[in-house]
Amino acid sequence: MPILDSEHPVVAAPMAGGPSTIALARAAVSAGAFPFLAGGYQSPDALAAQVAEARGIGGAFGVNLFAAEPTDVDETAFEAFVDEISGEAREYEIVLSPEPIGDDDHLDEKVALLTDDPVPVVSFTFGLPGASAIRALQAAGSVVLATVTTTEEARRAVDSGVNGLVVQGPAAGGHSATFDPARDPRPIETAELVRRVRHELDAPVIAAGGVDGPRAVSELIAAGAESVQVGTALLRTDEAGTSAAHRAALADPAFTETTVTRVFTGRPARALRNGFIDRHQHAQIDAYPAVHHLTRALRRAAAEAGDTDRLHLWAGTGWRAARTGPAADVLRWLADA
Ligand SMILES: Cc1cc2nc3c(=O)[nH]c(=O)nc-3n(C[C@H](O)[C@H](O)[C@H](O)COP(=O)(O)O)c2cc1C
Repeated sequence: MPILDSEHPVVAAPMAGGPSTIALARAAVSAGAFPFLAGGYQSPDALAAQVAEARGIGGAFGVNLFAAEPTDVDETAFEAFVDEISGEAREYEIVLSPEPIGDDDHLDEKVALLTDDPVPVVSFTFGLPGASAIRALQAAGSVVLATVTTTEEARRAVDSGVNGLVVQGPAAGGHSATFDPARDPRPIETAELVRRVRHELDAPVIAAGGVDGPRAVSELIAAGAESVQVGTALLRTDEAGTSAAHRAALADPAFTETTVTRVFTGRPARALRNGFIDRHQHAQIDAYPAVHHLTRALRRAAAEAGDTDRLHLWAGTGWRAARTGPAADVLRWLADA
């Protein structure tokens, strides 16, 4: 029995910060794919409302949560980074606070919410919740998945009792799921990472990262994945909540590559390479979520102004293949259905 209940082995990735919507989840169900809601960045109340709405999409769905380990902020490095980018913020009349802000994304409250009001699947990224949280969600009837980027993380996740793994290769768009934001993602093809995890561990695997068409999906299934999670391929679709500026950048031939950067949030993430990355990449700042909070107002202002030079343009290596139109068409195309 596959771990995810869907007709096709294709999963609409959770994409926090706007792109994941109820409409996208509904479109995924209608195409026979498995959808995730993005629980990260949302308040527990907003997540509860979204889960309530998702009960009406006509099929099973998952909720993704951030489970980042708290990291110590090097205050000297953080202040230097504030100085480094303050000129960019001033362009939007934004004054940056040199006080690092930390938070745990309300993880415990969100787990409690999903334990009280269970959903079919809960996945975690950036780290693992405690074993008791995993057990509580499973006791409530949920399948629990952990996102991992190495065989070591996969082993830790399996040891903590999860039902399955989302194995994310470094080609993936957006944040790396790495448990250690100070570590640079090791270069490896997603299919190879899937093979290694499957060789070492007996756990169902959902593969993610760099999918640019049905062939990539088949390759990942052949490597041992039971299904394939796609993010970037959905960013330009009708139902995604992607900002206009982000959509424009994905279609703009002036962007010629993606790169992994920490300059927007303090955590490695793959994005279209733009001026903000080029100007600040040398800073090597790894304070998540302090850098996320620091740059948030600037990124919001940049998005509103259509300033793609200062925006975090999350994209996987397959971004050129991201199509416009109904998400269900894209998902059926990927599933070769
Ligand atoms: C805009 C964007 C936001 C993302 N947000 C999340 C998230 O909230 N949680 C998560 O587990 N993964 C997130 N991801 C990563 C996806 O789950 C997935 O691993 C990735 O999109 C797969 O690679 P691809 O983009 O090349 O398809 C995000 C990806 C993108 C592109």
